Amino acid sequence: MDKIRIEGGVSLRGNVRLSGAKNAALPVIASCLLTGGWHRIRNIPSLKDITTIETIMSGIGVDFRKDNDILSINSDNINECEAPYDLVKTMRASILLLGPLLARTGKAKISMPGGCAIGARPVNLHLKALVSMGVDMSLDHGYINAKTDRLKGADIFFDIPSVTGTENIMMAAVKAEGPTILKNAAKEPEITDLACMLRSMGARIQGDGTDTIVINGVEDLTPAEHDIIPDRIEAGTFMIASAMTKGEIKIFGCRPDHLSAVIEKLRSVGADIEITDNCLFVKGPEIIKSADIKTMPFPGFPTDLQAQFMTLMCIARGSSVIEETIFENRFIHVSELKRMGADITINGNQALVRGKDRLLAAPVMATDLRASASLILAGLVAQGGRTEVNRIYHLDRGYEALERKFQGLGARVWREKA
Ligand code: UD1
Repeated sequence: MDKIRIEGGVSLRGNVRLSGAKNAALPVIASCLLTGGWHRIRNIPSLKDITTIETIMSGIGVDFRKDNDILSINSDNINECEAPYDLVKTMRASILLLGPLLARTGKAKISMPGGCAIGARPVNLHLKALVSMGVDMSLDHGYINAKTDRLKGADIFFDIPSVTGTENIMMAAVKAEGPTILKNAAKEPEITDLACMLRSMGARIQGDGTDTIVINGVEDLTPAEHDIIPDRIEAGTFMIASAMTKGEIKIFGCRPDHLSAVIEKLRSVGADIEITDNCLFVKGPEIIKSADIKTMPFPGFPTDLQAQFMTLMCIARGSSVIEETIFENRFIHVSELKRMGADITINGNQALVRGKDRLLAAPVMATDLRASASLILAGLVAQGGRTEVNRIYHLDRGYEALERKFQGLGARVWREKA
């Protein structure tokens, strides 16, 4: 299994360019099931999760052609409607195929995603919404079996604003009979990106980016071209890296409007941040001040940056409270950070972090995607030798060439192949 080794202590300097957002690319790729013809998607990141969705869709009969970061996708010849357990268990977002498959063929068989390291992560809201749109749903031997003669528009209220839930129902609704109104919908930028793709295909969608989305079903869609938005979580990870290392990093290809909560929080701990169009310049402070965070749906502070921000607070002056409100078990990185000398106490969904002068290099284990990034950040400042981050396959699911991008900023970080 690959490992990442880091010798800490370098102030990061230079320019870095963001990749396309994984969480935007996955639903956009899934949406290409809605109609045949060649779709052309630009700014696709090279990631394990992208290969996984390509493998599942290839099994269904979808054709892919890749040219650097451009992915051409053709679903003219769909012959299967099944997403098997072996692949779904490696990527929960496979559930995103349910909505578009039902809209295109009226049937789908998808392995029910299980829980994952950060929480139970049920998909009950996706299923309930589809049932109200006229889908017959059953669970057989671990598989969701769904079928419908015709999807019907419906009024749907999400008890919790689920990101992939909102995306799944948007994709189901674009060809449904009559209007669908989604209330308490998720407002994340990835929702708006999917809505842009669907509108390019001819869908009629309004209100994306707000908590009420109205979709008027249409008979026909056409293939589309689309640019995936930049990855705001990758951007936040580099911003935090600069703040931790007294760095001076220019991050290119950004959407600063997707990062307001992160920019505000990093300024409050002392980082100097300049914003110009699609570029962020982040200068780390001499002394990092402490600040509390509470993870919230967009536009609040993203749960996908909680672990990275906690690592920053490990070396801040003073104490901070990190509250996780989205997932029930998203503090698994804490025990690894403690092995590096961090002082953190967990109480329910809150962690009290008492900032220390330093972290110490140690061998650690990545436990999930964003936790992996937090351990690499810790390694960038750790003293007294090399930090070794194991189980790095989590990182490869969602960060494109992270160690190479850090190397470009001067970090002493390298991958050791198994
Ligand atoms: C997406 C992101 C993930 C991010 C998360 C929250 C993708 C591929 N993944 O995950 O990186 O951390 O949003 O911003 O886009 N819930 C239910 N029932 C449901 C659906 C969700 O109870 O049917 C709960 C979840 O357990 C969680 C909360 O709702 O507590 C939000 O989850 P959700 O927005 O659905 O997360 P994902 O879409 O899985």
